[in-house]
Amino acid sequence: MRRIAILTSGGDAPGMNAAIRSAVRTAIYKNLSVYGVMRGYEGLIDDHISEFNARSVSNILSRGGTVLKTSRSMRFLKKEGVLKAGANLKRRGIDGLIVIGGNGSFKGADEFSKLTGIKTVGIPGTIDNDICGSDYAVGAHTAVDTALDAIDKIRDTVTSMERIYVIEVMGRFEPFIAIRVGLAGGAEDVIFPGNDYLIDDMSNDIKEGRKKGKVSWIIVVSEGAKRAAEAAKSIKKNTGFEVRAITLGHIQRGGSPSAYDRVLASRLGAQAVDALIEDKGDGMVGIVSDKPSFVSFKAACMRDKGKIKLDKEIYNLTKILAI
Ligand code: F6P
Repeated sequence: MRRIAILTSGGDAPGMNAAIRSAVRTAIYKNLSVYGVMRGYEGLIDDHISEFNARSVSNILSRGGTVLKTSRSMRFLKKEGVLKAGANLKRRGIDGLIVIGGNGSFKGADEFSKLTGIKTVGIPGTIDNDICGSDYAVGAHTAVDTALDAIDKIRDTVTSMERIYVIEVMGRFEPFIAIRVGLAGGAEDVIFPGNDYLIDDMSNDIKEGRKKGKVSWIIVVSEGAKRAAEAAKSIKKNTGFEVRAITLGHIQRGGSPSAYDRVLASRLGAQAVDALIEDKGDGMVGIVSDKPSFVSFKAACMRDKGKIKLDKEIYNLTKILAI
């Protein structure tokens, strides 16, 4: 392997730049040529590819988003797009590709490596943390910190005005952010796919709590379960109390990556280059119990809708501490 390329795909996540920096510099350190691809698979199809040097990735370690930009490519879902993308790499003699992204990006990478024969290695980068084969994906920790910062601020009003707030966080079908921020933010309850039908019980808890003198509530809702407005409407209907709904939205994807994510991204960037040097492909690097790991793209994408990883211990503790 002499030449490799790198791209970011799908939703941006804080720490993607740290992973790009690490992969580019590790590759150069190990005497490989490295190319940056702009706008994910879109740029791969449109040949927006240029050679990088060590300075191309200066001063990006602490920046959110991705300097390579990103996209959700519809054209890459078609064989024609995949083959065009492969031809653009082969013309330059590039025989390895690193894809930083989530589930959808890895399904594309799997297809790409099978159809073109170009070794492709993934780095998990998504705030949803819904990938198998790595304890954490780049960006997930920072997203929890960002959501927590927002919830701490909202709590000032919750407490001062003695209200009930339903706060929706991102994560697609995975309640990683919701469960973590629920405990860290002192929420009274968390609604996630699987317990959303219990909203009547939650409403009863609120009514009982009010009788005992409890005046304010924060309920975190995971976007895969319900919309905040819908949950707030049901709770208001059941309790008769004033309930406000807030959707945190894309602020959770932004901002400077945490130290945790910078370290994770730097380790995974280097691991991805090493995997290509070892002629590995069609799979994703990860960290499991603090040790490097490698799984096939197929195994990495096992967690689809309906197969959520619910951290019951954390959720149960949230409920206990909310008495
Ligand atoms: O996958 C990351 C994520 O932010 C999800 O949490 C969310 O469901 C989705 O992307 C939003 O996508 P978009 O930015 O395309 O609206």
